[in-house]
Amino acid sequence: MSKKLTVPDIIEMKKEGRKISMMTAYDYPTGMFIEKAGINTILVGDSLAMTVLGYEGTIPVTVDEMIHHTKAVARGAKNTFIIADMPFGSYNTTEEKAIDNASRFLKEGMADAVKLEGGTEMAGITRAVVDAGIPVLGHIGLTPQTVAQLGGYKVQGRGEERAQKLMEDAKALEDAGAFGVVLECIPLGLAGEITEAIGIPTIGIGAGVHCDGQVLVYNDVMGLFDKFTPKFVKPYADLGDQILKALEQFKKEVEEEVFPGEEYSFK
Ligand code: KIV
Repeated sequence: MSKKLTVPDIIEMKKEGRKISMMTAYDYPTGMFIEKAGINTILVGDSLAMTVLGYEGTIPVTVDEMIHHTKAVARGAKNTFIIADMPFGSYNTTEEKAIDNASRFLKEGMADAVKLEGGTEMAGITRAVVDAGIPVLGHIGLTPQTVAQLGGYKVQGRGEERAQKLMEDAKALEDAGAFGVVLECIPLGLAGEITEAIGIPTIGIGAGVHCDGQVLVYNDVMGLFDKFTPKFVKPYADLGDQILKALEQFKKEVEEEVFPGEEYSFK
């Protein structure tokens, strides 16, 4: 069993050119599988609002709900570095609120770090949370909590001005003490330039191969979420199909009195 990474270990991986793997998880068994697979880090993403709780977007999920799921993941993945996503409204108001809520993720959720969405505008809050002793992962590009402002789920950073803004965002987060930054849905060339320009790891999702690491949403990867699948998702399994087939078979066997046969009954 490998030992849990620390923030310096994660930064060192970038320096050594070792790619960082990250997968989202929302519950105990998934935490267990991810740890067994040896994936470096887990993100308890607020994507759980959609993938697990059935909301249309990430806005409605609460700190209590996020902590509930983070705790379950942490019980399943005791030796994996866990980052908890702070939900909308829990950090983007005041520094005090951000520190209080971020502390809850470490104390109650058993997370190792938190993730905040936003660039230059979130640098002050990032600095305050880091100064309170809480590691912060930034997140720029397509930031789902502000998708309405961005005009929908689409590629960010196209054009010189927008690309320049993302570069400034990444640098501001590094200066504010973030230990890494998620780059979501941006052209691969720009992601490469940002990765070169900063000393902290970039974790890409829809940002191409030049990032220092990659993250994907578990339910997308496993074929467990069929509302929409972004272009950048590579499906590695189709569990949804297998689950459906198993449930249909169970129903049929109950109706035909095939289940439970003798081997599943007591004499
Ligand atoms: O909530 C989430 O799963 C995320 C990833 C898409 C990076 O923020």
